[in-house]
Amino acid sequence: MPFVERVFSGVQPTGNLHLGNYLGAIVNFVKMQETHNCIYCVVDMHAITQGIDVWGGPAELTRNTREVTAAFIAAGIDPKKHIVFNQSQVSGHAELAWIFNCVARMGWLGRMTQFKEKAGKDRENASVGLFDYPVLMAADILLYRATHVPVGEDQKQHLELSRDIAQKFNNDFGDSIRAQGANDGLFFPLPEPLITGPATRVMSLRDGTKKMSKSDASDNSRINLTDDADTIAQKIRKAKTDPEPLPSEEKGLEARPEADNLVGIFAALSGRAKADVLREFGGGQFSSFKNALAELCVTKLAPIAGEMKRLVADPGHIDSILNDGSDRARALADETMKLSKDIVGFIYRR
Ligand code: TYM
Repeated sequence: MPFVERVFSGVQPTGNLHLGNYLGAIVNFVKMQETHNCIYCVVDMHAITQGIDVWGGPAELTRNTREVTAAFIAAGIDPKKHIVFNQSQVSGHAELAWIFNCVARMGWLGRMTQFKEKAGKDRENASVGLFDYPVLMAADILLYRATHVPVGEDQKQHLELSRDIAQKFNNDFGDSIRAQGANDGLFFPLPEPLITGPATRVMSLRDGTKKMSKSDASDNSRINLTDDADTIAQKIRKAKTDPEPLPSEEKGLEARPEADNLVGIFAALSGRAKADVLREFGGGQFSSFKNALAELCVTKLAPIAGEMKRLVADPGHIDSILNDGSDRARALADETMKLSKDIVGFIYRR
């Protein structure tokens, strides 16, 4: 069956959204709207997989869900032309995840590096949900039979698992799928990750070997989408660098993770290639490059922060966007669930 191209991606409402989320994912979400039907999801069910002290409790989850929605819209996602919703409003995510739980193998999940990182040494104490996290992610994508998934580099392994689950489902239930009329025996597409642009892995501003992350104890390690202009400028000025001037060619960034990261951020924010940025700033001191980068960050991010602030001040409006998006998502999801139930052999009221 040739699949209709459709984009799906999700962001967790856990703490501050940062420049990594923006450049690694959200910028590409905005771009994909021009060519595809897109579904963007605030994955509140994923958010509760870690301890309540990590995600902050019910009031914080509600606040963060609205804030991520506001960020989507402030960045340029159109919730009327496309679908923006929160995961827990569409029960198909949990239902399909259960079927996939019975398709995925323990060994596959045991290899997930993100689980190992997040669970740390005390694996016995990690939630079952944290272990199962990538299965729910596969359900998110395949519930809409999405073909393309824009994400940052850190999600690559999870996308590979989604493809393995889709393939095993198609194999296990091939006869049943063919009986439904799909002669090629394919019910789920194998979703393709879209990991594009010069900032697919934005690193910490304090340590160029560590990913920029919501959970880093130091706020100076990241630029939050809600930071004001002064804070952004200060964080860039304080960002770790090395004593050498900037190289004139990309090769010179090898083994210089901090310089590479800052040049990548500049390139992504300005829509230029790294080589082009180095042609302009190569040979110069970091201080003048940092001034230009701070100005660029403020120009690009301050309007988003301002719009987010305006949007979150009206929670009723945000909730109505999420409700409307959920209704439209549910209509698509219900279709996949009915077909999936037929394929598996579950009886349901027709
Ligand atoms: P989350 O909420 O951790 O991150 C959201 C998106 O931001 C990207 N990202 C980064 N990109 C570049 N540099 C960084 N430092 C950086 N940090 C985060 C992530 O790659 C992601 O694209 N599991 C997902 C959410 C999810 C999902 C899905 C995504 C749930 N279901 C289905 C795609 C499809 C996650 O934890 O994202």
